[in-house]
Amino acid sequence: MRLLFIGFGTVGQGLSELLLEKRDELAASYGFDAVVVGISDMLKGSAYDPDGLDLAAALARVGRGESLSDWPSVGRSWDAPTMIAEAEADVMLEATYTDISTGQPATDHIRAALERGMHVTTTNKGPLALHSRELIESARKGGLQFLYEGTVMAGTPLLNLIRETLAGAAIHEMRGILNGTTNYILTQMEGGMDYAAALAQAQQLGYAEAVPDADVLGWDALAKVTILANVVFGAGLKPSDSPCQGITEISSADIVRAAADGQRYKLIGRVWRDGAGVHASVAPQRLPSTHPLAGVGGATNAMTITTDALGEVTIIGPGAGRRQTGFALLNDLLTMWRHS
Ligand code: HSE
Repeated sequence: MRLLFIGFGTVGQGLSELLLEKRDELAASYGFDAVVVGISDMLKGSAYDPDGLDLAAALARVGRGESLSDWPSVGRSWDAPTMIAEAEADVMLEATYTDISTGQPATDHIRAALERGMHVTTTNKGPLALHSRELIESARKGGLQFLYEGTVMAGTPLLNLIRETLAGAAIHEMRGILNGTTNYILTQMEGGMDYAAALAQAQQLGYAEAVPDADVLGWDALAKVTILANVVFGAGLKPSDSPCQGITEISSADIVRAAADGQRYKLIGRVWRDGAGVHASVAPQRLPSTHPLAGVGGATNAMTITTDALGEVTIIGPGAGRRQTGFALLNDLLTMWRHS
């Protein structure tokens, strides 16, 4: 499987580390054999070799702050559109930064890759929150796989769970913690750390978006509930259709007061269907500390799915992070491999 990375930041590098570490294990368990033929990143440069790049060397270069464009390779200075147009690859991995208001440039990258007949996997929330219907349809028409497990709850298999394991159950509501950064900040603030220090730690640990406003103002969780509304409930919502409030109004004093009342703040994303249609919302809530979601701390996410057949099903797992999100891409690649 020839892979093309568009975007080689935290997530792309996380996947690369997993591919290198697990090469033998993946070959033995699944017969999986992949080679990275191209990488194009706005800040880290680009490299293309149809015979395959040395991925360990690429990671090392990027780790040292050296541009990939200075590395001996074919087609060395291709920007993302040129790389997608010229590279011979089977799968494009779209892992550029998320822009929830335009979905760009990622949406155009995905459109172009599908038009060229490449399968696509992405962790980018913008294209799915804004253009899921068009992109899913375009992949279907081309007979291509378009997978995006990492857009919601990182590598924790929420979308796989719904698509595969809960097939046959009608879903009425989904409610939970969908942003790792804010959950990490709230947890650290409960431990006495101030907001700015907790946010700085979340950035250092690779949880936060490139511009962390997207996390703390609730936009990242809003993108995720919109994706769920559209791909799970078949709605046609845009992020701007739903109310959204983040955690910036919550002070350390509020957290201490809530704790004295036996409560904890959590940023809750919710999607539900009623007689009027499908709705979504993001807002902080004070939950009793005995509530199952109150015990979910740090960058962990959780989602309770209310179904007709089973009642409530809850999945808890990592919601952000380098390897945790890189794993979502790896899992999508293995799904493609199994179906190819
Ligand atoms: N910034 C996001 C979060 C990354 O903190 O949850 C995962 O989508």
